[in-house]
Amino acid sequence: MDVEELKRLAGEKAAERVKDGMVVGLGTGSTVKYTILKLGEMVKEGLDIVAVPTSKATEKLAKEMGIKLANLDDFERIDLTIDGADEVDANLNLIKGGGGALLREKMIAYYSNYEIIVVDERKISNVLGSFPLPVEVVKFGYKRTMRTLKTMGCTPEIRRKNGDIFVTDNGNHIVDCKFAEIRNPEEIEVEINMVPGVVENGIFANLANEVIVGTKNGIEVLKSRK
Ligand code: 5RP
Repeated sequence: MDVEELKRLAGEKAAERVKDGMVVGLGTGSTVKYTILKLGEMVKEGLDIVAVPTSKATEKLAKEMGIKLANLDDFERIDLTIDGADEVDANLNLIKGGGGALLREKMIAYYSNYEIIVVDERKISNVLGSFPLPVEVVKFGYKRTMRTLKTMGCTPEIRRKNGDIFVTDNGNHIVDCKFAEIRNPEEIEVEINMVPGVVENGIFANLANEVIVGTKNGIEVLKSRK
């Protein structure tokens, strides 16, 4: 099975957890895309849900699939969110933001009763740090913010897309911070967010309840012990 097949396996499996009447958070990326496509089919067959998208790209795809959409403002809680991740550690802490949607993804995860993450097996590691940590920063003084991030033990790089500095759905930039390893994700998550100019970072500590992994041997489900 190639990687695309593993992503499809995980993404579609998660869609089975969506039930009538739910408010569903829809993540961003090439794995959760398969969840959204599957949900689109289920909606056509009568599934009644309202979805809150984590990015403009997901909003567009969900709309095309005929899924009813709403805003985060409209609800106190979201029943279930399904999202992707760039790296998952042994305690189900995550690095997210490879697609640049980490701020809305974290807000929606925070207000969700249950968060399912869908990944292929390449994303699983013992300790976070293989994937450079995405940090969303305001444009003002971003080079100065980068120098502060460097003092925290990483190599920061401003994200570019087609040669231009990348701009998020919220009008900010992303700095990708390569750490050798992140052994204390809970502390690093808070520490980075204390830097003025940082809007949010891609460590999601203790936010995932379950990870559905597409592997060459089929689906593996990891559940949080917390
Ligand atoms: C976007 C994200 C994505 O969920 C993450 O990058 C995984 O994407 P993919 O499934 O395409 O590998 O955090 O901000």
